[in-house]
Amino acid sequence: MTVLSVRGLGKVFGSGELAVTALDNVNLDVQAGELVALLGPSGSGKTTLLLCVSLILDPTAGAIEINGKDIYRDGRISIDVRRFRRENVGFIFQAHNLIPFLSALDNVALAMQLNGVGKRESRKRARELLDYLEISHRAEYMPANLSGGEQQRVAIGRALANEPPLIFADEPTASLDTGRGMKVMELLKRVAREKNSAIIAVTHDMRMIAGFDTLYHMDDGRLTRTDAEAVGALAPPH
Ligand SMILES: Nc1ncnc2c1ncn2[C@@H]1O[C@H](COP(=O)(O)OP(=O)(O)O)[C@@H](O)[C@H]1O
Ligand SMILES: [Mg+2]
Repeated sequence: MTVLSVRGLGKVFGSGELAVTALDNVNLDVQAGELVALLGPSGSGKTTLLLCVSLILDPTAGAIEINGKDIYRDGRISIDVRRFRRENVGFIFQAHNLIPFLSALDNVALAMQLNGVGKRESRKRARELLDYLEISHRAEYMPANLSGGEQQRVAIGRALANEPPLIFADEPTASLDTGRGMKVMELLKRVAREKNSAIIAVTHDMRMIAGFDTLYHMDDGRLTRTDAEAVGALAPPH
């Protein structure tokens, strides 16, 4: 099932001589449960693509469908954007941006509460999710008292809270050492498989892409399909 369909997506920042084309006629289809890696140099438009597809930034051309439903076409947005995002998209950023005065558990529970789940139920489900992510022993910790890897697990929990069909991870392992980064990627792969979520993960690190279903390369706003051989990814050592 196609979860995300992007056609001719464009994004221009600014105008006139200062205009920057960040997305240039981007086409992309992502299936349920598909794990997609988005590669490419700094400034090539990767973050802009994720932000435009989730309508945090307004695209300037093209069309986006989610689960076969038009959400954006030629400058017109046909949904309630905040609600759409809450229900359909989970985000994992490089800076974990957990709410500093809420415990790990409440950071995850809050995401459910914003979607109308009651306090008790949300805390129960948040605990199950932290359990699934093998971090429930830190449920009552404040973010500042968690390691980088632990914070990222909580951030993944928050992204999964409402079981969104789409998860966007923008360099989720950038602030972690290789070992912890690998573990976070393993976890994302497990989530895609077990929860049937489509995941698009931006990464610079070729060591992180083993096991991804599909690789895309972004360059100067243009998106092309690629493969492990083309990007010189090495098989993990054994
Ligand atoms: N808010 C903005 N205003 C103007 N230009 C921007 C803005 N955000 C990004 N850009 C430009 O768009 C291009 C793509 O940026 P970005 O999507 O952040 O790249 P990446 O995530 O691949 O590093 C860059 O040239 C960047 O300078
Ligand atoms: Mg970026």
